[in-house]
Amino acid sequence: MAFFSLSCKLRLLGVATVMAMTAARVGARFQPSSWSLAYATFYGDESASETMGGACGYGNLFNTGYGTDTAALSTTMFNDGYGCGTCYQIRCYGSPHCYRGSPLTTVTATNLCPPNWSQDSNNGGWCKPPRVHFDMSKPAFMQIADWKAGIVPIMYRRVPCIRDGGIRFQFQGNGYWLLVYVTNVGGGGDIASMWVKGCQTDWIGMSHNWGAAYQTFTSLGGQSLSFKITSCSTQEIIIAWNVAPSNWYMGMTYEANVNLH
Ligand SMILES: *[C@@H]1O[C@H](CO)[C@@H](O)[C@H](O)[C@H]1NC(C)=O
Repeated sequence: MAFFSLSCKLRLLGVATVMAMTAARVGARFQPSSWSLAYATFYGDESASETMGGACGYGNLFNTGYGTDTAALSTTMFNDGYGCGTCYQIRCYGSPHCYRGSPLTTVTATNLCPPNWSQDSNNGGWCKPPRVHFDMSKPAFMQIADWKAGIVPIMYRRVPCIRDGGIRFQFQGNGYWLLVYVTNVGGGGDIASMWVKGCQTDWIGMSHNWGAAYQTFTSLGGQSLSFKITSCSTQEIIIAWNVAPSNWYMGMTYEANVNLH
């Protein structure tokens, strides 16, 4: 699982080199990983209300389109928020609690499973580094196993995220601070870096704030805004031109007509 533990920041050094040598890798598609073994638990109840407002900043998961097919990732996989938005197929494997036929479910990472440092990694401290662990929403867990099991062995693999429509940008902040939550990302689902461009500015690098949120301390009011995003997983580069019209305002969500693959 080396590709999880490498931070995107480290990977970016490589990206810069690749870009300089070969220009942008347009059209690089995210490929599924091979299957690996891990364990899964669940949190919250069947309403999945506990999964809302997680550490990726996606807020209400019904409004942002992720629904209940979600999981919180262990510390290593969450990777300071760079794991947000990644997608996994999960099936229960090798336990009497697995449902017949070992059905698959697909989840999006929307939260951090916080490590409990006072518990052993093999007994309750599932989310401590370097362990790979999925703390699924209860409805997602109930698609693969009897919830009374509490914890089950699984097979999992990373898969491309299938999204309807384009990448969405939810604006927060104030006149001098633009904080953008990025949702509905297809392909690898994750983001390595992001830039914003006002119609009267050059590209401005945005810094990672938390989860899937990026920021710039620049006044961009009254300008239509474009965003450039690079994928963590594929280094694909995408530009969403003039996603936000010049009369954009805080609290609004703007959807691009492009997405990662
Ligand atoms: C962490 O584990 C300890 C020991 O089992 C337990 O008492 C405590 O409630 C746990 N903390 C959380 C936040 O779950």
